[in-house]
Amino acid sequence: MIKLNRKIARLKPSATLAADARAKELRAAGIDVISLDAGEPDFDTPERIKAAARKALAEGHTKYTAVSGIPELKNAIRSKLKRDNQLDYDANEIIVSAGCKQAEANVINSLFDDGDEVIIPTPAWVSFSAMVELSGAQVKYVPCPESTGFLLDPEALKRAITPHTRGIMLNSPSNPTGTVYHTGQLTELARILLETDLWVMSDDVYEHISYDGPVPHLFHIEPQLRGKGIVFNSLSKTYAMTGWRVGFAAGPKEVIGAAGRLQSQNSGNPNSVAQFAAIEALTGPQDEVKKMAEEFRARRELVVERIRKIPGFRLPNVPSGAFYAFPNVSELFGLSAAGRKLTDGDSVAAFLLEEAKVSTVGGNDFNAPDHIRLSYATSREKLTTAFDRIEQAVKKLGK
Ligand SMILES: Cc1ncc(COP(=O)(O)O)c(C=O)c1O
Repeated sequence: MIKLNRKIARLKPSATLAADARAKELRAAGIDVISLDAGEPDFDTPERIKAAARKALAEGHTKYTAVSGIPELKNAIRSKLKRDNQLDYDANEIIVSAGCKQAEANVINSLFDDGDEVIIPTPAWVSFSAMVELSGAQVKYVPCPESTGFLLDPEALKRAITPHTRGIMLNSPSNPTGTVYHTGQLTELARILLETDLWVMSDDVYEHISYDGPVPHLFHIEPQLRGKGIVFNSLSKTYAMTGWRVGFAAGPKEVIGAAGRLQSQNSGNPNSVAQFAAIEALTGPQDEVKKMAEEFRARRELVVERIRKIPGFRLPNVPSGAFYAFPNVSELFGLSAAGRKLTDGDSVAAFLLEEAKVSTVGGNDFNAPDHIRLSYATSREKLTTAFDRIEQAVKKLGK
C-alpha cells in the first residue's frame, strides 16, 4: 500500500461534492436524476459579468497577476465591504483567492497549529472541519440544537472555550441550516468573544440570500472584534459564479500577508480573467442579485410547504437565508424498503437517490445525522417533480 501523508490519508472527499458527482455520473448513464445536492445557484452568470471577462481576454489579461489579486479588484472588494457591511479595510488587508474555500484554507493554515483548538458550531458546512484538521488544530464542535433554531447558545460557547482554543468559525446565513443570526444574537456572542483571545472567522458567502432583510455583520456590531476577525466572502453564490473561482478574505495585514505567502507557494494568483469579471460583478448594477434572491424566496415557500407534507420529515424552522432546507428525518429510522434499512441521514439520502432518483446530501458530515440537506437552487418545476417523487418513495417504506 502506498504511504500517504498522515493528514491526507485521513481526509474524506467533500460529502456535498461527492453527492453531486454521483448524481452527474448517474445522469451520464442516462438515469433521470434530479439534483437537490449542489451548493450552487442554477442561474447563469449575468451577461454584464461575462462581457467584462470577454473584454479582459480581448485586452490580453492572460498573464500572472499579483499573487493576492489585482489592485483594482482589491479596491472593488474594499468598496463592497463598505457598501454591504459598513466595514473599512485597506488593500493590504485583503487577499483574493480561487474561491472562498481557498481563502479560508490559506488563513486557517496560517493561523492555527498542532495543539490548538478551533470551535465550529454545528450543523456546519462539511469543509470547515477538514480545513481545521489539515492545519494540525483540533476541531471542537459545539452542537446548536434544532430546538433553538440551530443558533449558537452563548453559554455553550463559553463552556467550550479552553486555554487551547484559538479560533471560532461562524457562518450566517448558514450552510446547511439556513439560519441567520440577528443583531441581538450577535451582540450576545460578541460580548463573550470580546473577553477571549479567539480569532473570529465570519463566512458570509450567503449574505445576499436572506429573506428577512439585510444580514447584520458581527464586526460592524462590535468593531473591537475586527482586530482579531477575518471576513470570508465569495462571488460564487451572490453572482452565480461558482465555476469562476473568485473569493476573498479580509483581516489584519499580518494574517493576510501570511495567507498570501502560502498562496504564492502553493498555487499563485487567482484566474486573471475571472478577476476582471469580479470587478464588474462587485461594482456594476446589483439588480440581478435581488432578483435571484426573490426567486430563491419563492422556491423556499414551495420547498417548506412540500417538506411539511411528507410523513417522517420534520421542519420546525423555516430557513431564513441561503438556499437549503435541513429537515429532520429521524422518524424514518428503522423503516425499510427493498431490504434497505434507514438508520441515519446518509442512509435516507442513499434511499432517495435509489428509489426517487433525487439526489440530496445526508446530514452525517454536517454533524447532524438526523437530517438531510436539500438545496433549492434549482427550478420550481424540477423541485415539484422531485417532491412528487420523494412522496412516492417514502410511501414504499415499511417496518
Ligand atoms: C459556507 C460556505 N463557505 C464557502 C463556500 C465555498 O465558496 P467558493 O465557491 O467561493 O469556494 C461554500 C460553498 O458551498 C459554502 O457553503
